[in-house]
Amino acid sequence: MPQATPSNTRARVQAIVADLKHMPGALLPILHQVRDSLGHIPTEAVPVIAEGLQITRAEVHGVISFYHDFNTQPIGNHRVQICRAEACQARGSRALEEHARKRLGIDYHQTTPDGEFTLEPVYCLGNCATGPSVRIGNHIHGRVGATRFDAILDDAITVPLDPEPLTEGDA
Ligand code: FES
Repeated sequence: MPQATPSNTRARVQAIVADLKHMPGALLPILHQVRDSLGHIPTEAVPVIAEGLQITRAEVHGVISFYHDFNTQPIGNHRVQICRAEACQARGSRALEEHARKRLGIDYHQTTPDGEFTLEPVYCLGNCATGPSVRIGNHIHGRVGATRFDAILDDAITVPLDPEPLTEGDA
């Protein structure tokens, strides 16, 4: 992931906006491209995007805050998302959340000191029948209890980062 610095962030975002702003519904593709290019959507990107699309900063903020995938802070090598929606709660996701916090030593929206894992809540991964559901990188795992969670994390740090399309893993 290229390193973003304050001095070049604005120029990079401007280039992305110039490239994509003529697409229909350009805001979402631009936000995805900024996130993919910089690793997150920095605060200073918002006015650049708003200006380029002739919309308000509030509109840009609204879309960023609506979609969980648009992180505004740098994240770890592995994004760990635990489903907090109703079906997974009924299958034990609350206990899994507690375990995850203890195991990683962080709360939601935080990254482990070694930079490996960022813990995030999600609200349904489309895997409701086999909850509790967890997504790590591009893989969704089902029936995840504490022991399984630990094993999945161990696998994540021993296997190279994986850009494969989203799969339901071993749900
Ligand atoms: S409720 Fe958790 S995957 Fe749908």
